Amino acid sequence: MPDTNQPAEVTEAAVLEALSHVNDPDLKKSLTSLGMIDNIRICGGDIGFDLVLTTTACPLKEMIKDDARKAVEAVPGVSSVSVQISGKTLSAKVPQREALPGIKNIVAVSSGKGGVGKSTVAVNLACAIAKQGGRVGILDADIYGPNVPLMMGLSEASIKTMDDNGKLIPPENHGVKVMSMAFLVKDDQPVVWRGPMLDKVIRQFLNDTSWGELDYLIVDLPPGTGDAQLTIIQATPVIGAVIVTTPQDVAVLDSRKGLAMFKNANVPVFGIVENMSYYQLPDGSQDYIFGKDGGKAAAEEIGVPFLGEVPILSRLGADAQDINSGTPITVANPASEQAKVLSSVADQVVAKICDMSFAPDEAQTKEPEQDLGHEHGPNCAHEHDHEQEHSHPVSV
Ligand SMILES: Nc1ncnc2c1ncn2[C@@H]1O[C@H](COP(=O)(O)OP(=O)(O)O)[C@@H](O)[C@H]1O
Ligand SMILES: [Mg+2]
Repeated sequence: MPDTNQPAEVTEAAVLEALSHVNDPDLKKSLTSLGMIDNIRICGGDIGFDLVLTTTACPLKEMIKDDARKAVEAVPGVSSVSVQISGKTLSAKVPQREALPGIKNIVAVSSGKGGVGKSTVAVNLACAIAKQGGRVGILDADIYGPNVPLMMGLSEASIKTMDDNGKLIPPENHGVKVMSMAFLVKDDQPVVWRGPMLDKVIRQFLNDTSWGELDYLIVDLPPGTGDAQLTIIQATPVIGAVIVTTPQDVAVLDSRKGLAMFKNANVPVFGIVENMSYYQLPDGSQDYIFGKDGGKAAAEEIGVPFLGEVPILSRLGADAQDINSGTPITVANPASEQAKVLSSVADQVVAKICDMSFAPDEAQTKEPEQDLGHEHGPNCAHEHDHEQEHSHPVSV
């Protein structure tokens, strides 16, 4: 006679069955069908498994982890569940372009004209993704006004140091590697770049910089949608672009032209960010001094997503802060409205790249996984307790 007081024996099949009902909120498919569950460990009622994320910078990792844990906790016989997060950022495929070794995804930040906050958005995207755990670089390709080093607190940095291969070592701050023409040219030297030279310079920045392994490289393009921009996009295996505009610039932004440029180069536009959209008033209300929803309407008109509106950061008053202090606002003041919007833009870009890169059969390149987190779980011997690759966990 079976002893009914004996807890049910937990099987791997039961654990997988429970996890097959948990979906990745972005990809809207189950964790099991996405191949995100690995290394299931069963030790009586103590269950452990690895959750393999599709990007190291996954903004939803805690939510997915919680959902997975709850699902397995509900399996009869389970007394404890530990989930170890690991991740391997996939490369989204760029058609007809040679990928750059070590650099998984290149994102361009573009604008119809200068002064709209393109560099501000670019550095904050980079910093926000780095904060989420991604390995990030930023290439300041705005050779006419290279101000990324200033914004990243690297205006004094130089890149004279070479590594063993004679490559340039990019200075790093806020967890982001930075390469810019400003490091190579003195302030008082005029720079005149023509098409072929520009192409060469950009290729050199990409190929002769010792970037190491990067999950994301953000490229700050020169403003406009002319030949210079096209040259860079063609020289770079860009996976997608973010367009920055201001409410005043929306009318000027020749969105169709900008879009056509990306279309011709076969580069999808991830969406439009409207910068300097409104003033946040002390009473909490918003003053849309230049009119409301222009960016949103432009995005709708040209059929690309609207990624968010960033308020004006006042240099006066209670929220006064020098936006060019060398610390981008997503790092300096993450609780500010500007930082929240810019971080959300970063999350949306990462999620889109995840969507693009996910093709279960081919995209899951067998690269070493990056451990993102660990909880001590059951470690009694089990048929799945095999890989050394899970042996350097850190806590989340
Ligand atoms: N939301 C904002 N609020 C206040 N000032 C901003 C904001 N975004 C950008 N700026 C400032 O406007 C100027 C232009 O921004 P920048 O990012 O350099 O533009 P671009 O790269 O398009 O030329 C910079 O001095 C920057 O600090
Ligand atoms: Mg700029």
